[in-house]
Amino acid sequence: MKKIHFYQIAVLLALWLVKSIGVATAADLSASRRAELDNLLKQDCGSCHGLTLKGGLGPPLTPEALADRSVALLAETIAHGRPDNAMPPWGPLLSADDIHWLAERLKRGEPVP
Ligand code: HEC
Repeated sequence: MKKIHFYQIAVLLALWLVKSIGVATAADLSASRRAELDNLLKQDCGSCHGLTLKGGLGPPLTPEALADRSVALLAETIAHGRPDNAMPPWGPLLSADDIHWLAERLKRGEPVP
C-alpha cells in the first residue's frame, strides 16, 4: 500500500479550508444563479437602493459611489447588514459565494437588466 504523506493531508486540509471559508470566484456560480442574484439586486436591494442602484432610502451602490470600498468590505456589509440602520443582513439567505458575487457585481457595475 502506498504511504500517505503528511503534506498530502495538509494540502487537502488547506483546500477544504479555503472552500469552506468561501473564498470563491464568480466563475463558481451557474448562469441561472447569477440571473437570480441580478434579479434580487434589482427587486430586493433596489427597493432601498433604487431600481438602478443610484440611491433611495439606502445610499447609491454604483461603482463610483463604492470606489473606495473593497469587495471584502462590501461582502461583509451584505452578509451582516449595518446593525444601527435599515441595511438588513443577507447572510441567513444567501451563500458566501452568492454574497461575494454580488459584491464583485456592484464593483463592476454592469447595468441591472
Ligand atoms: C431595507 C432597506 C435595504 C435593503 C433591502 C438593502 N439595503 Fe443595503 N443599505 C441600506 C442602508 C440604509 C444602508 C446604509 C448603511 C449605512 O449608512 O451605514 C445600506 C448600505 C449598503 C451597503 C454599504 C454601502 C457603503 O457605502 O458602504 C451595501 C454594499 C449594500 N447596502 C448592499 C445591499 C445589497 C447587495 C442588498 C440586497 C441584497 C441591500 N443592500 C439591501 C438599506 C437597505
